Amino acid sequence: MDSALPAEQRAHLALQAMTLDEKLQLVHGTGWGVLRDGDPVAPGHNGGAGFVPGIPRLHIPDINLADSAVGIRMAARESRYATLLPSALGLAATWDPDAAYLYGSVIGRELRDQGYNMSIGGGVNLMREPRNGRNFEYAGEDPLLAGTEVGNLIRGVQSNQIIGDVKHYALNDQETGRNTINVLLNQRAMRETDLLAFQIAIEIGHPLAAMCSYNRINGDYACENSYTLKDVLKHDFGFKGFVLSDWEGTHSTTKAALAGLDMEQPGSDFFGKSLLQAVENGSVPRSRLDDMAERVLYSLFASGAVDHPPVRRVVNPFLGLKDAQHIAEESVVLLQNEKQVLPLNKNQNGIIAIIGSHADVGVLSGGGSAQVDAPGGNAIDASEGAAVWGKPVYFPSAPLQFVCEKAPHANVLFDSGDNLQAATTLAAKADIAIVFVHQWMTEGQDAASLSLPEKQDALVEAVATANKKTIVVLETGGPVSMPWAPRVAAILETWYPGIGGGEAIANILFGDVNPSGKLPATFARQDADLPYPHVPALTEATGNNGMNAHADGTKSEPESATVDYNLQGLKVGYKWFQTEHKQPLFAFGHGLSYTNFAYSALQCDSPSKAVTFQIQNTGQRSGDEIAQVYATLPASSGEPFRRLVGWKRVALAPGETRMVSITPNPALMSVFDVKSDSWKLEPGMYRIEVGAASDDLKLQTTVGLP
Ligand code: GLC
Repeated sequence: MDSALPAEQRAHLALQAMTLDEKLQLVHGTGWGVLRDGDPVAPGHNGGAGFVPGIPRLHIPDINLADSAVGIRMAARESRYATLLPSALGLAATWDPDAAYLYGSVIGRELRDQGYNMSIGGGVNLMREPRNGRNFEYAGEDPLLAGTEVGNLIRGVQSNQIIGDVKHYALNDQETGRNTINVLLNQRAMRETDLLAFQIAIEIGHPLAAMCSYNRINGDYACENSYTLKDVLKHDFGFKGFVLSDWEGTHSTTKAALAGLDMEQPGSDFFGKSLLQAVENGSVPRSRLDDMAERVLYSLFASGAVDHPPVRRVVNPFLGLKDAQHIAEESVVLLQNEKQVLPLNKNQNGIIAIIGSHADVGVLSGGGSAQVDAPGGNAIDASEGAAVWGKPVYFPSAPLQFVCEKAPHANVLFDSGDNLQAATTLAAKADIAIVFVHQWMTEGQDAASLSLPEKQDALVEAVATANKKTIVVLETGGPVSMPWAPRVAAILETWYPGIGGGEAIANILFGDVNPSGKLPATFARQDADLPYPHVPALTEATGNNGMNAHADGTKSEPESATVDYNLQGLKVGYKWFQTEHKQPLFAFGHGLSYTNFAYSALQCDSPSKAVTFQIQNTGQRSGDEIAQVYATLPASSGEPFRRLVGWKRVALAPGETRMVSITPNPALMSVFDVKSDSWKLEPGMYRIEVGAASDDLKLQTTVGLP
């Protein structure tokens, strides 16, 4: 209990004082608990997704962990309040590490207030599959952007003296068949894409826990895969915390323990009596069990959970709303703004039509274990208390209300969008028509296509035909196709904007906030342009992964289908579109502003030296620009596509010029050499490009590395 000692030493001392049974107690949960009606709930369980009883005799606290990807889940069960933050993909669209730290701080602060000392958020799975149901929980298609944002989010969580985590390690990039699919990907591609995102998040965030995923990776389940767990995560990445399985993602005792799994969740099918037997018969060395327990102890000491147990208090909803709204305002991406139809005029006195997506009562949130409970119940069905798995939940932040406040002289009229004729009639007589479209996404299933559901494309087409000043506001879990884009004036992507979403959207529409977000993922024109035109293993018969059971109650799971990511390989997202010469609808890094920026004076002497350039705000209003730096490696690297190697978010007043200097980490300019199992900086000529988006590069130069 001497907090002056380093956590490693304290963990070791505590371990030495523990009995075999006490060590075993630390390496598994106590069952599904509150997650499964009727299951026993251990005393001391705080109502979250998991619980590990502590060892009072040694002052080792219980571990009470909660799902908290975009805010704390299941607060309603205990009549608690939790702030719904914007989706993590929306956070990624801010490209703002400070926003990410704030995001995690809100989650960590509220977890402590609710009596938890561990978070299981921190999803950083790369968007290989734009139709993945959980993309709203992750940070997009680029490893540097995703790893940087989630790493800072984890830093924020752990700044509240609780255990943070990173998940789902690894290549759990789709929901279809997630429990059984065998994902294939060669080591170089793995290290330069999905695992690089985890590596960067771990280097920045130092998560004290990592959750291994359900799927297989090149044959072995992720929770018993010694290459990914031992060789890469623990050895190469130097991860010192503990690896916990996803819920029922453990598939063996000895193989999993020897491969590097340290804790089974939620129960003890494999790491309870079976592990004791394995230790007693020697198939699992006692030293391995010691290491498992010591890692858990290390995380408890290093997080501050031992020295600073949570002090329960009411969550501050006002602080949470302010923080969430600030992040939401930075996350909105202005995709299109023909004839500067935006920002809207506050003094207008005409008719403003607000159509669709329950914009009269709230904004959409994502489903599954990331689902946060809405204050006052679901805004579209208040009869419910806690959220119901598989049902969309809207949060009571109504765009309609805030638009009315912004334009007090206008006649703001709402139409549900359910009836095409009614919506069209309203649009025809309005001066401005704002159509809100939604794409509800959830854990447990993928979207079968990029198309908006529920005939919303037809709704937008009808409104756009009736009104030339049609603005589309997207509330989506990820990229969607927009066949109507050429026929509407403006398009805003607001993701799932969180508890402050309605006001954030109105602030952007009326120019009180200048949009600054940029896409963290490529928006393809159509499914056919993707590496996989159809979600692998998703068929009519299987549905997604059995969690959306069929009408007759049968559950189907694709029989351990193989998903071969080697086709896509290194070319995730924008790299695919460049190599395949396909034109995306909106490119990675794209995002407009209400002002304009000019780039000049690029200087770069070597691939491992600083890239400097000037950027000027040439418009009439202040704004933030996210200036991006891309590198194309020498031909010998075999990577004929650009990769993001750095960026900076720059706030500029009208007319202001700023010199920007970005020094890419040499590792980001390297290739992973499987033979030597190391990163290599190739000699040769590097192309350095600087600009506003991956398809809007203003400056370029070539520099050599001897
Ligand atoms: C779920 C999810 C994981 C979540 C856990 C506990 O299946 O995959 O993200 O943290 O189980 O709810």
